[in-house]
Amino acid sequence: MDEKKVMLSGIKPSGDLTLGSYLGAIRNWSARAEEFDCYYFMADLHAITVRQKPADLRRRTIEQLAQYIACGLDPEKNTLFIQSHVPAHAELGWVLNCYAMFGELSRMTQFKDKSAKNADNINGGLFTYPALMAADILLYQPDYVPVGEDQKQHVELTRDIANRFNHIYGDTFKIPEPYIPKVGARIMSLANPEAKMSKSEDDDPGRVTLMDPPEVIMRQFKRAVTDCDACVRYDPENKKGVSNLMTIYAAATGKTFPEIEREFDGQLYGAFKTAVGEAVVELLRPIQEETKRLLADKAYLESVCKNGAEKAGYIANKTLRKVYKRVGFVAR
Ligand code: TRP
Repeated sequence: MDEKKVMLSGIKPSGDLTLGSYLGAIRNWSARAEEFDCYYFMADLHAITVRQKPADLRRRTIEQLAQYIACGLDPEKNTLFIQSHVPAHAELGWVLNCYAMFGELSRMTQFKDKSAKNADNINGGLFTYPALMAADILLYQPDYVPVGEDQKQHVELTRDIANRFNHIYGDTFKIPEPYIPKVGARIMSLANPEAKMSKSEDDDPGRVTLMDPPEVIMRQFKRAVTDCDACVRYDPENKKGVSNLMTIYAAATGKTFPEIEREFDGQLYGAFKTAVGEAVVELLRPIQEETKRLLADKAYLESVCKNGAEKAGYIANKTLRKVYKRVGFVAR
C-alpha cells in the first residue's frame, strides 16, 4: 500500500468557531483522512502571544477539541493533540529562531497588524511566532499545510527556513506546500457581506458561532443585511447579502441556487431569512449536542489528548533528534 501524504494544521484557540469556519473548512476535514495522514493541533503556545485569561484559554482549548470531534474529525483516523503537550514544538521553535532573520520576521503582515492592534504588548513571542509555526510544521515532515490566505506568508517563510537549514546541514526537512482546499463555501459576515465571517470578535452582529442557541441564531439571521429589491436571486456582484444567505442555505440544505430561487419566488425577505435561520439551527443541533456530550466526558477527552500527544510526540521527536545532531548538540 502506498504511504499516504501527510497534512498538518494548527488552530489557535483564541476565539469561538463560527458557522463560517464550519461550512468553509471544518466540514470537509473528516473526508480528508481517507486520502491523507492528518495532524491537527490546538495552538495554545501561539495563543499566548496575545494576552489571554487563563481560565478562558483552558476552556476554549478543550471546547475546540470537542467541537472538532463533534464536526466529524475522528480521533482514531486523525492525530488530534494540544501543542503544549508535545514539548518538541517549543524546542525546535527555539532552534529555528536562530535560522529566521530579523528582516524576514519584520516583514510579516500578521506581525505588523497585531502589533498595531496590541500596541501595549508587542512582545518577543509575537515577533518570533513564525519560527514557532515553522517548527510546528517541519517536525512532522508534512507534504501539505492547509491554510487560509492570511497564513500563506507564514508557510512561505517556513519553506525559506527549511531550505536554509537543509542547505547548511544537508537534507533534514521536507519542504511543505501550502494547500488551498478546493471545496468549501466562503461565508461572509451577516452584518457586512463584504467581509469574511470572523472568529475572534465577540458580540459581532454578523457572526453565528457553532454553539449559539437557536434563539440567537434566529435573531442574527433576522437582522442580516439584504437589499431593497425584495427578490431572492443569486447575484454575488450586486446582491452580496442575499447571495451570502443563499450560500448558507444551499450549504445547510443541499439545495441548488435555482431551487432556492424557485422556493422563495414572490416571497418577502422575512420568510427567506427565517428559513435560513431554521436550516442553520437544524444543521448545528447535532453538533451542539455531540459537543456537550463530549465535554461532559472528561475521561474520553483526556484519553484523546494523551493518545494524540503520544503519537505526535513520537514523530516530532524523531525530527528533533535529527536536528539536534545536525547542529552539533551532544547526544543525551
Ligand atoms: N498561525 C495559525 C493561525 O493563526 C495557527 C498555526 C500555528 C498553524 N501553527 C500552525 C497553522 C501550523 C498551520 C500550521 O491561524
